[in-house]
Parts: sequence; C-alpha cells; structure tokens
Amino acid sequence: MSWAAVRHDVSMRLLVLGGTWFLGRTLVEQALGRGWQVSTFSRGRDGYDVVGAEVIRGDRRLNVDMDRLTGAGPWDAVVDTSGMEPAMVAIAASALRNVVSRYVYISTVSVYQGWPTEPLTDDSSLLDSYADLAALPERIQYGVLKSGCEAAARAHIDGERLLILRPGVVLGPYEYVGRLPWLLRRMQRGGAVLAAGDPGRPIQPIDVRDLAAFALDAIANDVVGAMNVAAPHGHSTYGELLRACRDATGGSANLVWVADDWLAAQEVTRWSEIPLWRTAAGAWAVSSSRAEAAGLACRPLTDTVTDTWAWLQTEEPVAHERANEIGIARDKETRLLAAWRGASGRGAGR
Ligand SMILES: NC(=O)c1ccc[n+]([C@@H]2O[C@H](COP(=O)([O-])OP(=O)(O)OC[C@H]3O[C@@H](n4cnc5c(N)ncnc54)[C@H](OP(=O)(O)O)[C@@H]3O)[C@@H](O)[C@H]2O)c1
Repeated sequence: MSWAAVRHDVSMRLLVLGGTWFLGRTLVEQALGRGWQVSTFSRGRDGYDVVGAEVIRGDRRLNVDMDRLTGAGPWDAVVDTSGMEPAMVAIAASALRNVVSRYVYISTVSVYQGWPTEPLTDDSSLLDSYADLAALPERIQYGVLKSGCEAAARAHIDGERLLILRPGVVLGPYEYVGRLPWLLRRMQRGGAVLAAGDPGRPIQPIDVRDLAAFALDAIANDVVGAMNVAAPHGHSTYGELLRACRDATGGSANLVWVADDWLAAQEVTRWSEIPLWRTAAGAWAVSSSRAEAAGLACRPLTDTVTDTWAWLQTEEPVAHERANEIGIARDKETRLLAAWRGASGRGAGR
C-alpha cells in the first residue's frame, strides 16, 4: 500500500464549492466512495447533484449566502472548484476560514507568465494578478483572473492550511468544455478526418478522476503548497489520442495528418478549432514533480477516451458557453483536406 493510500479509510468531512459539473462532481463521487461525508454548495442552475451528498444552495458571490453556509460546518477541507474571479475566492475564503481546516483551490497552469510558450515547473513565475484586465489580450485574461484567485486565497488562508493545484488540460467523463467529446463525435462521423501536426507529439492531459483522487489523497495526507497536476511528459502522444478516439467510436475514421506549418498558414485556430492541437514549445512541457513526489498516478489515455465515450452514450454534457468555441466547421475541414492533398500530393490515412 502506498503512503498516499494509508488514510483512505479515515472519515473526513468535505465541502465542495460547486460539485455538479465535471471536476467537482468527480470529487464528490470519489469522496463518497471513500466513506467521507460530503457537502456541496451551488446555485442549482444546472449540473447533477450526486446522490449521498448534502446539497446546500446559494451564490458564492453573496456574503449572506456564504454566512449561511458556514452554519452547516465545520469541515476538514473545502475544495474550491468554482472560484473564477478573485472576489469570489476572497468572499469564500474569508467566510470559511474558521470552519474549514484545509482550503484547496483548483487553479490552472494558465496562471504562469510562460504558459504556453515556455516549459513550466512548479516554481515558474506567475502572471501579475493585479494587471488591468481590460487592457490584456483575451487569451490571458483567464490566467490573470485565476492568478488573482490564488492571491486571494493566500491573503485569507495561512500557508500551512492552503493547497493550490494547477492542472493542465483535464479530460474524462463529464467534460463540459467539449474537447474530447468533439473529437469522439467527429471520429464517429467517420470519413477523412483532419489530424493536425505530428502524431508523435507528446501530450499531457490529466484524467479528471486522477486529478480528483490526487486532491483527496493530498487532503488526507496534509499536503500543502502549490503544484502543477499534469500527466508526465511522454505519457501519451497526439497520435495515440486520435487513434484511441477512432477505435473507441467504431474505427471508420481515416486520419489524414496535415503539417503544423501548413495548417497554421490556413488560419486554423490551435486548441479550439482543432481540440488539443497546440504547437507552442511549453504547451506540453509541464513538470509536475511536486505532485509526482506526493503520489500522483495517471491512468492510460486510452482509458480516458474509452470511458468518456461510454459516458457520452448515457448523458448530455452540462451546457457551457465554452463548448461553442470547440471544433472546426464541417465545410472548412473538407476544404482544407482537399487543399492539403492538392498542395502536398499526400494524405494517405493512418
Ligand atoms: N477543464 C480544464 O481543462 C481545466 C484545466 C485547468 C484547470 N481547470 C479548473 O478546474 C475547475 C473545473 O471545475 P468544474 O467546473 O469542473 O467544477 P464543478 O464543481 O464540477 O462545477 C462548477 C460548479 O460551480 C457552481 N457555481 C458556479 N458559479 C457559482 C456561484 N456563483 N455560486 C455557487 N456555485 C457556483 C456550479 O453550479 P451552479 O451553476 O448550479 O451554481 C457548479 O456546481 C475550474 O476551477 C477550472 O478553472 C480546468
């Protein structure tokens, strides 16, 4: 038994700020599975309440609702999955600090100045959390906000009670951003599929279930500090991802690999139009050495793909505005594939 597993049988009281969409829902399911008592706090607009959890309704932006929430405590730990703006975290952390022993804030690798252009460590420099948001390019506003959330958590919670987790891209069942669901549905449609760049490119998505298990182990084992949570470099490749998607959905898709440079010249948007396609030097060079030392374990990417496809047969993802940004239009893909074949004389599927 690893040291990370030793305290699984210890019953804990856990609060999840959120808990009904993706990571929060997974955390709740796993914590209940460990025999923990779990409370969730959300507005109840959408998403799925997990049977067995104590469901508390309210808006975390409202002091009055947070004050009411504290009356349901105390808890051994709170996991804050839904803090997206500094004020949201400041209100929650100041309200909860006397009724929780441990505060876990779910941040992101987007908080780093070097993301995604430079390799990242757990100690890379953070974006300035006080920068004037409106003056910044939209692509880094999320990272600035999350960096501000981290600062708000630090302002209200002592370091020995605060854990900040910075995941890279998260995939798996319940994903609502829609990256892996889009790829899977595209593969199911079959025919020639535009496969971007180098099939051997290493990628590091973390399975939501591995992220949740790591967070709960960290709580049980009193891990604090700030750390990245991505699959290890070399864990899988973009080619493995697309082939796993093809195989999971019936195998009728024909992958046509198209060179990075040519594709970029056609003004195809990395990451969103072609999910998980990112060529910047730091995009897949995230070190999670601190989390690995604390016991992070990552399942094979094929399991993530297969299980996500199985889940999609049973349920619609929670509707989310970001899902609209994902995926290339059908006619644009067809046009690009024809142009690529003409330009290169290539295009045999793999
Ligand atoms: N997806 C990725 O690839 C990725 C990568 C890195 C980091 N992250 C981070 O991982 C986290 C993902 O969490 P998740 O969305 O899956 O968590 P979740 O806890 O499953 O879902 C979000 C919850 O927040 C609730 N909520 C939203 N606004 C609220 C408010 N004002 N008051 C009370 N509750 C509110 C929602 O319910 P209601 O709407 O009903 O209130 C929902 O229950 C985020 O912090 C994200 O930044 C994600």
